Amino acid sequence: MNANPLATADVPVAARDSIRALRASRIREVANAGFGLPDVLPFWFGESDRVTPDFIRDAAAQALSRGATFYTHNLGIAPLRDALAGYVTELHGRTTMDHVAVTSAGVNALMLAAQLVVGPGDRTVAVTPLWPNVVEIPKILGAQVDTVSLDYGDLGWTLDVDKLLSALKPDTKLLTVNSPSNPTGWVMPREAQQAVLDHCRRHGIWILADEVYERLYYGAQPAAPSFLDLAERDERVICVNSFSKSWLMTGWRLGWMVLPSALTDDLGKLIEYNTSCAPSFVQEAGVVAVRDGTPFIQGENVRLRAARDHLVSALSKVPGVDVHSPEGAMYVFFRLAGAQDSLAFCKRLVREARLGLAPGSAFGPEGEGFVRWCYACDVQRLDEGVKRLQGFLEKAA
Ligand SMILES: Cc1ncc(COP(=O)(O)O)c(C=O)c1O
Repeated sequence: MNANPLATADVPVAARDSIRALRASRIREVANAGFGLPDVLPFWFGESDRVTPDFIRDAAAQALSRGATFYTHNLGIAPLRDALAGYVTELHGRTTMDHVAVTSAGVNALMLAAQLVVGPGDRTVAVTPLWPNVVEIPKILGAQVDTVSLDYGDLGWTLDVDKLLSALKPDTKLLTVNSPSNPTGWVMPREAQQAVLDHCRRHGIWILADEVYERLYYGAQPAAPSFLDLAERDERVICVNSFSKSWLMTGWRLGWMVLPSALTDDLGKLIEYNTSCAPSFVQEAGVVAVRDGTPFIQGENVRLRAARDHLVSALSKVPGVDVHSPEGAMYVFFRLAGAQDSLAFCKRLVREARLGLAPGSAFGPEGEGFVRWCYACDVQRLDEGVKRLQGFLEKAA
């Protein structure tokens, strides 16, 4: 007799345990609560309200007309790798294209980097509060993620370097640092980077530097301090970057990583089995973005700095708000009396005041009591948002 084909019917249909254990995005949870409501002012996602600049959209349209619709090399088209090598060299010192790989945006680069070096049971460390994707990705691979929190005080968010070093034990496989940080806007100081790099070198720990906001930096330099300024290209440092934030290309899904050349062949295999390559016409537009985009990036930086200053100043006048001016990225992450349960608070805020903010707890337990506001938009819109927040708090008082 044949085996009963329905015998597995008793086994629940489900993803594997480590996938089911992943945390769902609380930012999405709030956005879903606002879905379908009229007149919501959304500041919850990390993207500009502006469309990608014309010169990049035109380049993509021309590439499509030329027929750039085929698979490319796994590591990206040579002109883009070459342009990126030049871009990185200008900002962070000599980098050749055998250290550069094109990816399908930053989040894909984070996944590929983790797949390259992290396996089941490995211990990784991440500095938090942090965009949840960075924390969850190693867990997909069966790794353990321990967190070291920034401290919040009179100076805003700061890192206790000794606390981080003591968490980086010799058995640690990977440290992930996101600077400028989403959500806090914290920028890792150069001296802290050097101390961490020295320590990781001693213990053979990989550093995964998520630097997608490096050009959204309000210090004197054109980019935030980078691990690439300090590290040799062939040591255990992988730096992830993206076109999403600097060139306003979130929907295009284009990014890159800088990595030791000893890893690129294996990375090529991983890209083959994940996405095979980034879309070809998007890569061609990327060449133009890198080549011609500096004035645009500089202009956006001025606009974002003004928006940051405007929002921080307006929020600091709202009773119950405790806010510091961030050094980088595109978020104000502020503490708010009454938002001790930030998820419940943000859900009420969107339902009752039509204001969409991201709950601090989405970025780890140390973010509880805070909310994140993306300020990449016009100041009139920010003013309307602050008015709604104020009105909501007054009613709730
Ligand atoms: C810290 C951080 N890293 C990486 C990314 C990835 O962005 P993308 O996949 O659009 O390049 C984001 C996006 O918000 C981010 O905040």
